[in-house]
Amino acid sequence: MHTLTKERFRYGKGITLIDDSGKEYLDGVSGTFNLSLGYNHPHVVTKVQEQVANLAHMSSTFTEPYVEEVLDHLIQYTPNGIDAGWMRDITGSTANECAVKLAQKYTGATDIISLYLSHHGQTQFATGISGNAFRRRKFPNSAAPNSLHVPAPYCYRCPFNSSPDKCGCQCVEAISDAIEYASSGSVACMIIEPVLGNGGNIIPPAKYFKQLRQLCNEYGLILIADEVQTGIGRTGYMFASELFDIQPDIITLAKGLGGIGIPVAAVLMQSRLNVLEKHEHSFTSGSNLISVTAAKSTLEVVSEPGFLEDVRFKGKLLGTLLTELADKHDCIGEARGVGLMWGLEIVGEGDAPDTVKCNGIIDRAFAEQQLILRGSRYGYGNVVKVRPSLTATEEEIVEIVKRLDAVLATFH
Ligand SMILES: Cc1ncc(COP(=O)(O)O)c(C=O)c1O
Repeated sequence: MHTLTKERFRYGKGITLIDDSGKEYLDGVSGTFNLSLGYNHPHVVTKVQEQVANLAHMSSTFTEPYVEEVLDHLIQYTPNGIDAGWMRDITGSTANECAVKLAQKYTGATDIISLYLSHHGQTQFATGISGNAFRRRKFPNSAAPNSLHVPAPYCYRCPFNSSPDKCGCQCVEAISDAIEYASSGSVACMIIEPVLGNGGNIIPPAKYFKQLRQLCNEYGLILIADEVQTGIGRTGYMFASELFDIQPDIITLAKGLGGIGIPVAAVLMQSRLNVLEKHEHSFTSGSNLISVTAAKSTLEVVSEPGFLEDVRFKGKLLGTLLTELADKHDCIGEARGVGLMWGLEIVGEGDAPDTVKCNGIIDRAFAEQQLILRGSRYGYGNVVKVRPSLTATEEEIVEIVKRLDAVLATFH
């Protein structure tokens, strides 16, 4: 595990954190990828301040008109006939639980399929349906009994030892086997992250999603896209589902929806799947007015003309610069990403995953370059993640890579 010094930060400005002594740290990962608009975007700050002054909270019995505005806005961008939504969560973990409940109640089936290396949240159930079993070690109730895990489309380390020119998406074929031999025979849904974020910024090959959709149709599975990390412009599109043409039945959102880190979540679904009663999934702080206002004002910014084009442009810049770093430094096996969601696969001898070096890079970036980065799999993985806020300037992106380059030069 890497350990960052426990500075006390006083202010956040743009993508910079400032400590007690006035020392500035450049945040290359937008908090935990949730500060889509940086630390203090003026539009969101103003709208949230106004809302707090007027009415910070009322029971969700009365918040529907506010929620409708956010859902109507989101639904303008949703693919595959997704035209309804639910906003009674404030975290991505329970939004994913909500999505699974929708699929189970609608289909009457029980089992849930997810990918190795996936991360769908921290509650016992969300941990249970995630493909990172080490996090369940001490918690017997987090083994979700109807949960199956299947190999991830991790092309850099293909679990089927294939290569892009030979790839027939055996990882999709393997799902049929899991349904036939490992499931109870009653499978409700498949949940995926369009880009496996925590698992290591893993991007499936283009044909993966088409085949996955076909498989879901064949077996009658509801396809859930967990866009908690990829949603709200992170990939240069409002939803990664649009970019990759995923055609999901349900999309879950959190993180970036709150703009400046205000917790909020949403579940978007085709109307036929809008089957829950309020008492079946509702939290005290779900759809509270601070969250809903943060979501509304964040969407106003992200949907301004040119905003997403600008993210795509800056994403290309970041990708080009990180690919140059990968060519220059032997410890980078691959730079991969899309939009402003990038990862560097850190390797050692014989291309083996090098977690120690990965954490060393992150620690040194913080201590010596005042650059904040994060590692995959809670510090147990070997991918350095680079995901600045969508509002980072070109100069800031160049500066992040410059500092990273200086750190990498000290590793061999
Ligand atoms: C893809 C994904 N889904 C769900 C979650 C859980 O979200 P939260 O921490 O808001 O519960 C996370 C958090 O990191 C995530 O990355």
